Amino acid sequence: MTTPELFRSPHSQPTHPLEPLTVAEVEAAVAIIRREKNVSNQFRFPCVTLHEPPKAEVLSFQPGDAIDRQAFLILLDNATGNTYEAIVSLTRQQGVSWTHIPNVQPNIMPDELVECEAAVKAHPEFVKAINKRGITDLALVVVDPWAIGNFGFEDEKGIRLSRCLCYLRATPDGNFYARPIDGLVPVVDLNTMQVLRIEDLGVVPIPPEPSEYGEKFASEMRQDIKLLQITQPQGTSFQVDGHHIRWQKWDLRVGFTPREGLVLYQVGYEDQGQEQGKVRPILYRASMAEMVVPYGDPRVQHFRKNAFDLGEHGVGVLANSLTLGCDCVGEIHYFDGVLTNSRGEVSVTENAICLHEEDYGMLWKHTDWRIDAVEVRRSRRLVLSFIATVDNYEYGFFWYFYQDGTIQYEIKLTGILLCGALSDFPKFGTVVAPELNAINHQHFFGMRLDFDIDGVNNSVYEVNSEAEPMGETNPYGNAFFAKSELLETERSAQRIVNPLSARYWKVVNPAVHNRLGQPVGYKIIPGENVLPFAHPDSPILNRARFMTKHLWVTPYEASERYPAGDYPNQHPGGEGLPKWTAADRPIADRDVVVWYVFGHHHIPRPEDHPVMPTAYSGFMLKPVGFFTANPALDVPPSQQGCCS
Ligand code: NI
Repeated sequence: MTTPELFRSPHSQPTHPLEPLTVAEVEAAVAIIRREKNVSNQFRFPCVTLHEPPKAEVLSFQPGDAIDRQAFLILLDNATGNTYEAIVSLTRQQGVSWTHIPNVQPNIMPDELVECEAAVKAHPEFVKAINKRGITDLALVVVDPWAIGNFGFEDEKGIRLSRCLCYLRATPDGNFYARPIDGLVPVVDLNTMQVLRIEDLGVVPIPPEPSEYGEKFASEMRQDIKLLQITQPQGTSFQVDGHHIRWQKWDLRVGFTPREGLVLYQVGYEDQGQEQGKVRPILYRASMAEMVVPYGDPRVQHFRKNAFDLGEHGVGVLANSLTLGCDCVGEIHYFDGVLTNSRGEVSVTENAICLHEEDYGMLWKHTDWRIDAVEVRRSRRLVLSFIATVDNYEYGFFWYFYQDGTIQYEIKLTGILLCGALSDFPKFGTVVAPELNAINHQHFFGMRLDFDIDGVNNSVYEVNSEAEPMGETNPYGNAFFAKSELLETERSAQRIVNPLSARYWKVVNPAVHNRLGQPVGYKIIPGENVLPFAHPDSPILNRARFMTKHLWVTPYEASERYPAGDYPNQHPGGEGLPKWTAADRPIADRDVVVWYVFGHHHIPRPEDHPVMPTAYSGFMLKPVGFFTANPALDVPPSQQGCCS
């Protein structure tokens, strides 16, 4: 099923302050700033997105209230290299602010990648270096611009730079990532698109195998797969109005930003025990706010490989247009992503966000064999997802909502390994094909979770299970208990996982208690996790210090959005969570933001080549005392009489 036109119309007037900007609003925002600031063609637009109204305003908003719609823009002047932030009122059709942000580099835009590759391939010195390697067909060469990072080199300060990796396709439509031209590194000024230098580290043989994965290259496909169809003849159980979603008792809004992609707003649950129709708030805003992929090979060709996929690029900008039957199966509702290209022209990614329901096996069951009574319920989950292609990797970003009040976040990692040619020894990677070394790396995901559990003021506890010492209170040595400790300040809330004490963190509203006298809350249950292996003094840890803790808690501050700072591209570091939390502000019983960081450790396997089977990584948010009993008791059996 495709989305009804009603929901897709980009020109309808937004009726809620958190509705993403429409096509007309994006066009107006760019036009207003062009007019007022005399913005020339030398400017690029790294970001045009909704400027979210103050939280208090949104919380007190009633349908029909007047909304001052505002846009937030980042502009880059290619002529001077200056970066500006602007806020524009769309309601009043005028600029609100215009600020020069010194010494930063905004994210690299897709247009820049295309222009940079063309500039390198047109450069005579590059052609000479390619020819030296016995390559004559430039059409088979791929130049892949990467963020250069910041390693303190004087000649890289203050210039918008890209350092390119080069590859050679075996055929015009073949996989290039398996054939790196190592030893050849063009460095480009992205403001002028001038090739500054071609680093030639010496000729390294190109791995010989084409390593194709496309259907057209397959010699045979398995023949024993029968059709599996998912149908919902009565339609879906969710309702969508603009970007507002209702599904059973869940109530939430979705947004979409160039940097974060999918954003959740005002996630709540209608509790049957409460006032009928009253939605109890859980999260005000939730998004993946930064991700960093540090690679572990120290050699000149490879040590700079550290991707900040949000701050240096933007996973909203890189979101795929999803296809029914391939990316998503069943009865789907899609939301488009309204973005701009680097010149400020509207660019709509159709079907960027997928919304659908999935059967999820068993919700709960019990058999009383004495009276031959069976009660079983099937679980169903609501899925909100998008997929971004960040260079060689694909990341699926999935939120799941369950009927028992659980929220799950899962990253699906697939795509192609980043490899080097095997020039000496494979210590820092895995040989995945002849002469091809897939480099060891990690993926760190930093979530920004603005909890508002039954109200704005919340507290965060760490819970560890402990054994009761053997003795008078524990004569047989079997006793253990869960010990909760309040995290009172930002520094005391910088924590790491401990699976051996079954550690979790609990966000509660200390002023709201359930009928058992417990504060209502949700717990954060870590999934797989790891710490970085980069040295504490390394440039990458200076720039992404947030990776060194799995939990951070800060008092709510609207401007504190990104764990590695607003502009990580080429930044020396020190920004974001480490900087904000240095003040060690109190965090108990107030509006708090919880930052959960999780790492996926990747020592590549031969089976990850030439395209990776999906790996999964994430965490859960589970109600703990938020309800006073299993909230899914009212889910009916899937078929009348099937289990009695
Ligand atoms: Ni990986």
